Amino acid sequence: QWEREVAHADEKYGPIFAKYAAMSVEEVAQDPQAVKMGARLFANYCSICHGSDAKGSLGFPNLADQDWRWGGDAASIKTSILNGRIAAMPAWGQAIGEEGVKNVAAFVRKDLAGLPLPEGTDADLSAGKNVYAQTCAVCHGQGGEGMAALG
Ligand code: HEC
Ligand code: HEC
Repeated sequence: QWEREVAHADEKYGPIFAKYAAMSVEEVAQDPQAVKMGARLFANYCSICHGSDAKGSLGFPNLADQDWRWGGDAASIKTSILNGRIAAMPAWGQAIGEEGVKNVAAFVRKDLAGLPLPEGTDADLSAGKNVYAQTCAVCHGQGGEGMAALG
């Protein structure tokens, strides 16, 4: 029965998908029927991780804002969906030690993100700044702005 259902679905949707596959993402986005189909596909395949409102959660990117890990132009989004994306953050404990991690975490939170530190912390912000410049900036950028090529 499953095979019959698949054959039936191929017959019904095959030509529609073929039509859209031959169009650019920008053109498909103008087609109300395609957008409706996309919304159903999103609900079936994507919402489990990205949320039914696409706003994501911890570890799962928000797809409903202007902030893209891998680039937000149509081609980059299509590549994200076609091939998947796996970002890799190396572990730094061994390389910079616990003191180094504490200092650079404080630098990231206070100086880059502009968020308060816990009261009475003895983290050394200028040491953290040096660790950041030497170890982290290569991927996260001098000012912490990130880099689409690495997610
Ligand atoms: C199993 C969970 C899961 C499912 C299902 C899933 N995603 Fe994702 N998606 C992720 C995670 C995690 C990332 C971040 C990957 C990374 O950066 O390492 C991501 C990244 C993305 C990105 C890149 C976001 C950015 O900021 O650049 C897009 C676009 C995307 N997903 C779209 C989709 C679509 C469309 C679907 C459904 C066809 C889908 N995802 C299904 C987990 C999921
Ligand atoms: C080789 C590239 C690379 C280097 C070097 C690197 N990171 Fe990362 N970092 C990443 C990537 C890629 C991610 C996203 C990982 C993911 O989501 O799977 C990440 C994620 C993070 C996050 C989590 C961000 C969030 O939104 O939750 C923090 C914090 C962070 N890095 C800090 C640092 C610090 C501090 C250093 C230097 C000690 C550093 N990173 C060095 C690539 C790097």
